[in-house]
Amino acid sequence: MKIPSTRLGVLGGGQLGKMMALAAGNWHLPFFALDTSRDFPAGPFCTGFTEGNFNNYDDVLRFGKTVDALTIEIEHVNIEALFQLEKEGLVIHPKPAALQLIKDKGLQKQFYADRGIPTAAFELFENESAIREAVAQKKWTLPFVQKSRTDGYDGRGVSVIRTERDLAEKLLPGACLLEALVPIEKEIAVVVARNSRGETAAFPPVEMLFDPDANLVTFLACPARISPQIAAAAEALARKTIETYDLCGLLAVELFLTTEHQLLVNEVAPRPHNSGHHTIESCYTSQFEQHIRGVLDLPLGSTRLKVPAAVMLNLLGEPGYEGPAIYENMDQCLGMEGVYVHLYGKAMTKPFRKMGHVTVLGVTPEAAMEKALEVRALLKVKA
Ligand SMILES: Nc1ncnc2c1ncn2[C@@H]1O[C@H](COP(=O)(O)OP(=O)(O)OP(=O)(O)O)[C@@H](O)[C@H]1O
Ligand SMILES: [Mg+2]
Repeated sequence: MKIPSTRLGVLGGGQLGKMMALAAGNWHLPFFALDTSRDFPAGPFCTGFTEGNFNNYDDVLRFGKTVDALTIEIEHVNIEALFQLEKEGLVIHPKPAALQLIKDKGLQKQFYADRGIPTAAFELFENESAIREAVAQKKWTLPFVQKSRTDGYDGRGVSVIRTERDLAEKLLPGACLLEALVPIEKEIAVVVARNSRGETAAFPPVEMLFDPDANLVTFLACPARISPQIAAAAEALARKTIETYDLCGLLAVELFLTTEHQLLVNEVAPRPHNSGHHTIESCYTSQFEQHIRGVLDLPLGSTRLKVPAAVMLNLLGEPGYEGPAIYENMDQCLGMEGVYVHLYGKAMTKPFRKMGHVTVLGVTPEAAMEKALEVRALLKVKA
């Protein structure tokens, strides 16, 4: 694909689309987005913004015909339109067939089981009563994790069932899967890239640290505090996973490192990912540029860290505030060395809404984490 003339389109105009557009801007690539409102984060940064619904067959089909290559920033898009565009010869990454598997957590898990990719034991269920029956028949014993097959994100389609009471009150409705509750030592993620000529490149593993209240990742540290052997195994597993899916562009692979030091694939996202945001400042190539390289079959960039350590924190809407967003103590944070604030331009804040992120670079992992804690205590999104 030719630079700078290839027209690249993305389904979705959120913050991932915005950061992709900014990366495309380095090469002056014409960049187009489809989403319901040009007031969304990507709006001001695209060459063209089409207002439409990425879940609507006609909107996606029409948009696809205006670009030379098409990608996504969100999995929940109209897949039938993508199959049609693929048939007509459009370059689409991730490939619709792989996207279809990934969109449905049930199919995704089945894919790992069929293809020898390690993942937690699971079973598919039609609904809640089938689960209660399986428990009554002692086919499943507490505790376990229930996940909706579709439409879950940011932890919203996940319910941990520990007690009889949870079984009565916390089951999610609809088609789902049950998964064994994994004894997790660490959660890590590897963002890996691939292009059509078959090259792969993995970013160093990152360690995800969770806020138990929001059920969102709050800190993300790179490099992960794991042994070189485990890091190499995690990267190898990520490469195997992207090759098995036959995907181009990025695949973010979320992994559990168990207390027995086993690596299990939890879930994947075939696009830029929260766990790769730090690469904008910390690595030779950002994940967003790498995604474009993979989608357009360009040589992949170096994934090496430029600094000893980076910590990323999500900037979430402060609990208790809802309305037009105000950023408290912005000045102070901008004055700190190695602190990079990214705002997504969302006009309205609400509790735990992802309003931006901050990457903190450090000469040691401890120094980066210490500064990240300072930033978290200072920078607040209120209304
Ligand atoms: N089998 C499991 N055993 C233990 N903990 C689990 C298991 N599955 C999920 N979790 C916990 O729940 C979190 C969210 O699960 P998962 O990543 O599958 O859902 P999600 O809604 O797609 O989340 P997100 O969009 O935030 O990545 C995991 O990061 C992990 O902390
Ligand atoms: Mg997840």
